[in-house]
Amino acid sequence: MKVLVIGSGGREHTLVWKLKQNQRVRDLFVAPGNAGTDGLATNVELDSDDIEGLVSFALEEEIDLTFVGPEAPLVAGIVDRFEKEGLQIFGPNQQAAQLEGSKVFSKNLMQEYGIPTAKYQSFSDAEVAIEYIKQEGAPIVVKAEGLAAGKGVIVAETEEEAIAAVEEIMVDERFGQAGAQVVIEEFLTGEEATVLAFTDGEEIIPMVASQDHKQAYDGDQGPNTGGMGAYAPAPIVTEELLEEVYEEILKPTIEALKQEGITFKGVLYTGLMIEKGEAKVLEYNVRFGDPEAQVVLPLLETDLVEIAEAVIAGKLEEIEVNWRKQKAVCVVMASGGYPVEYETGKEIRGLEQIADEEAVVFQAGTAKEDGSLVTAGGRVLGVTALGNDYQATIEQAYQAVERIDFTGAHYRTDIGQKAIEKLSE
Ligand code: AMP
Ligand code: GLY
Repeated sequence: MKVLVIGSGGREHTLVWKLKQNQRVRDLFVAPGNAGTDGLATNVELDSDDIEGLVSFALEEEIDLTFVGPEAPLVAGIVDRFEKEGLQIFGPNQQAAQLEGSKVFSKNLMQEYGIPTAKYQSFSDAEVAIEYIKQEGAPIVVKAEGLAAGKGVIVAETEEEAIAAVEEIMVDERFGQAGAQVVIEEFLTGEEATVLAFTDGEEIIPMVASQDHKQAYDGDQGPNTGGMGAYAPAPIVTEELLEEVYEEILKPTIEALKQEGITFKGVLYTGLMIEKGEAKVLEYNVRFGDPEAQVVLPLLETDLVEIAEAVIAGKLEEIEVNWRKQKAVCVVMASGGYPVEYETGKEIRGLEQIADEEAVVFQAGTAKEDGSLVTAGGRVLGVTALGNDYQATIEQAYQAVERIDFTGAHYRTDIGQKAIEKLSE
């Protein structure tokens, strides 16, 4: 069969790598892909937001199944467009994608259906929002209503910071229309974890829990990034907690959408804040997380194509999803200065020294220039190791990282430490 993956990050390289192992996948395309997917699949020069271009390509190439990596095309309705042409595509339709595309929609849904989340209010007037901040005090969290490429959430330590965030979003229109409204919510404490689930809108199958590392520096210091590393399974999500997340978050979310006349098909991502064994939803996404995909997909034993086909057909209940009994650790190597300002075009050396059994290097912001591999983005590589215990797997991942070199390379040195701490409690 012919399969298309849409996107260009580490998550998409991982999807391509996973699909490549499938005997049934004869032709694999990725649009637009990166230097890492080139060769493994055929890179197609189409942007992930070019929905009409992608539809035409899929029709012309007679693509049998399409996977969508990033949120923007989902929120823009790519699934509806593909389905209209009779093309098979794995992901939620536009209505379901509002869960990520609109914070007002998702917060209202959670409130209405009693799904645990931070207290909040939404505002379309900056002055009223600022009044509310003064009344509530800091710390407090300000979120742009719409998609803001992962930059629309400001965790403000002080009232001044929160007010500045409202002004930036609503008055200076930093994110354009996405900032016409803001959600202001209670600051939650605890530890974060990600639970992804496959769902066809009826059946829900949670994946192994994982943990991202959002802040740029060790010890969760510094600005928020797209994610500096991940590991799975995350021991903070015990079997008991996962059962609770299933009963109190995943199932009610899918049910609530159903009540609203919306069928969610694809991957539901819940970003959770966990304190004293209780989970609250920080955010929903409607796709695999990145870097979470880089640790979860390598642990997936069941055929991803089979799962996707079952989801699309509404027959997920017929599938059993199995996981390798291993640990996966992914360390992201970023450009120095990321997520603020960074240079690109730096030559990347050392990848050829990494043996397959040691680590897999998923590429994100990379490009080929005059025959050499160079940096082309903030997050450059995700180095993923698999092993039987956390400590050894962490060491294995870092050994690989140390063999890779590019000018200004920055990575956290404490990826996975929370798992070690949790297990020694
Ligand atoms: P989001 O994009 O909504 O997940 O927010 C990005 C990050 O901001 C989250 O991963 C958390 O680290 C942080 N965050 C979001 N909402 C809250 C909250 N209510 N309390 C504390 N931290 C939050
Ligand atoms: N790792 C966070 C995200 O994918 O949104």
